Amino acid sequence: MKVTVVGAGNVGATCADVLAYREIANEIVLVDIKEGIAEGKALDIWQKAPIDLYDSRTVGSTNDYTKTAGSEVVVITSGLPRKPGMSRDDLINTNAGIVKSVTENVIKHSPNAIIIVVSNPLDVMTYQAHLTSKLPRTKVFGMAGILDTARYRAFLAEALNISPKDIQAMLLGGHGDTMVPLPRYTTVAGIPVTELIDSNKLNAILERTKVGGGELVKLMGTSAWYAPGSAAAQMVEAIVRDQRRVFPVCAQLDGEYGIKDCYLGVPVILGKNGIEKFIELDLNNDEKALLEASRKAVREVMDVLDKLG
Ligand code: NAI
Ligand code: 2OP
Repeated sequence: MKVTVVGAGNVGATCADVLAYREIANEIVLVDIKEGIAEGKALDIWQKAPIDLYDSRTVGSTNDYTKTAGSEVVVITSGLPRKPGMSRDDLINTNAGIVKSVTENVIKHSPNAIIIVVSNPLDVMTYQAHLTSKLPRTKVFGMAGILDTARYRAFLAEALNISPKDIQAMLLGGHGDTMVPLPRYTTVAGIPVTELIDSNKLNAILERTKVGGGELVKLMGTSAWYAPGSAAAQMVEAIVRDQRRVFPVCAQLDGEYGIKDCYLGVPVILGKNGIEKFIELDLNNDEKALLEASRKAVREVMDVLDKLG
């Protein structure tokens, strides 16, 4: 089982490390355009194997995609991260060009790969990879919802002073300030969260979740990597182990939720074929209005990409 991670920066290297130490793939190829960085990080992760006791092999490559040939899953993390004061959408020009050229190289050597996009702005970079790869929409999708729900679950765990393991949550929409966390679908070991926390506290957590990426950018001067890298690895695991996990995933909608031709986070079943099934929740009017606002925001950035050609 071979998995490629493109971009050996913070998120890509973390993802490769998680894939290795959790033995999710037996060969992990790390690719970067910067000379030596992917080889160095791949070697470092391999030298950790005798300490952490895993036998997944990590291989690095400076832009040589022949080494990625026959990958079952490819994670694309290449691109600039957000800097303070920069919106995810500011990244579009540079990152679209990067994602396009990377996807062309990936598809040339692994025409049957499933592609998971991480680069920002996420929803629109998923659109870019889908356009370039010409793969079915069930095989090209983006990671954001697992990260955004993880932030929401972590904040709730802290507020309730309980284990994050017991919090289940779902979230819809774009990976941005218009994301739609769904308190109605949030439970603590099966108990509706609204029975355990007052609405003011819950609302504050929902608002913090929406700007969760920006909070970390302000603190660190660059965007997060531990949770994003692990989230991408969790999606890879669901695919290579055919786990049929239910995750929020950014994908092209084709009539689901009454939306067409837009890339938004929705719950799906992830298994060996990629997206095995789209799950449509029965949203109330408020939730529908929030999802529509998110659709509009993503559509505007997709239009920017369309104009760029
Ligand atoms: P980073 O700067 O640490 O790493 C990016 C890497 O991509 C660099 O090593 C760079 O050399 C490489 N790269 C650039 N152009 C390339 C090309 N053409 N081919 C191969 N490699 C290339 O950035 P970081 O923190 O790893 O973030 C990566 C991307 O992921 C950013 O766009 C960031 O905004 C996004 N991100 C998305 C998240 C999500 O939830 N979807 C969460 C966190 C980050
Ligand atoms: C994050 O949410 C910036 O998308 C990045 O951490």
